Amino acid sequence: MSNAAVRTAIFPVAGLGTRFLPATKAVPKELLPVIDTPLIQYAIDEARAAGIERMIFVSHPSKSSIERHVRHDADLGHALRQKGKGKIADKLERDALDDENQEFVFVMQDKPLGLGHAVNCAAKHVLPGAVAVILPDDLILGERGCLSEMVEAYETSKTGHMVATMEVSREAVSSYGVLDAHGSDGKVIYAAGMVEKPAPEKAPSRHAVVGRYILDASIFGDLDALEPGAGGEYQLTDAIAAGIGRLGLAGFKFSGRRFDCGSKQGMLAATLFVARQDPEYAEVLEEFGAVEYGQRVAAE
Ligand code: G1P
Repeated sequence: MSNAAVRTAIFPVAGLGTRFLPATKAVPKELLPVIDTPLIQYAIDEARAAGIERMIFVSHPSKSSIERHVRHDADLGHALRQKGKGKIADKLERDALDDENQEFVFVMQDKPLGLGHAVNCAAKHVLPGAVAVILPDDLILGERGCLSEMVEAYETSKTGHMVATMEVSREAVSSYGVLDAHGSDGKVIYAAGMVEKPAPEKAPSRHAVVGRYILDASIFGDLDALEPGAGGEYQLTDAIAAGIGRLGLAGFKFSGRRFDCGSKQGMLAATLFVARQDPEYAEVLEEFGAVEYGQRVAAE
């Protein structure tokens, strides 16, 4: 048995993705691609790179295509190989999760009762120790995966809960969980509290939480005791805040770049960012990417 500090990752993927309708009417937002790679695949790759042994997907019955994406598909691999497309078949095989050694579990969240409720749906399936939570529509790209960096920092810091954090403008704080920060040490920010989506004038800081968490196993007790919070939902933020006195809370300033891929602007930005790193797209970017919107309007 592994004695790694963080062996389980939970992916809450039951949400309706209303910000991306009509694209998400029939396609789960987690399967929307940045060029050719669905958001959920980025999240899986990040978890794997961080040494995660079990991935728990908290999904919804209407989103069964997520499971189809994640699971190894022997028939598709076979068909691709017969057509001489062995390279892509190999890639799909590497990307897929292995059913046999219980590398992944799907559980259903039938009602949209909030992120705290979603995480608690995974409680029965977690391996011993702290758990990671990854929100796939927060795409974080960098040389090292955000979760790998966090696991390393978590193993050396003495805090019970750790959340990824970045500074946002005062006006933007009301879209995030926000830390009550009181000091830092390198990439780690020590927090005395955390509030969900505060009004800008009430926010304790501009250190916003983005979708990567490493949570002490006692989070599940705090989730069980939770009352509905902001928006009438069971908020993960409130359960984290409930444990701070006992465990401590650290924010982690990750080194990658975060894209809010739950929004159209964020998805477009991520697509351009990835395309710029691949010469295959240079021509397209030259033709369509570099033109300032104002210039184009003036030219028409
Ligand atoms: C969730 C969390 C929030 C966090 C955000 C990061 O909010 O509740 O604390 O800052 O993710 O993306 P949502 O964006 O799901 O409303």
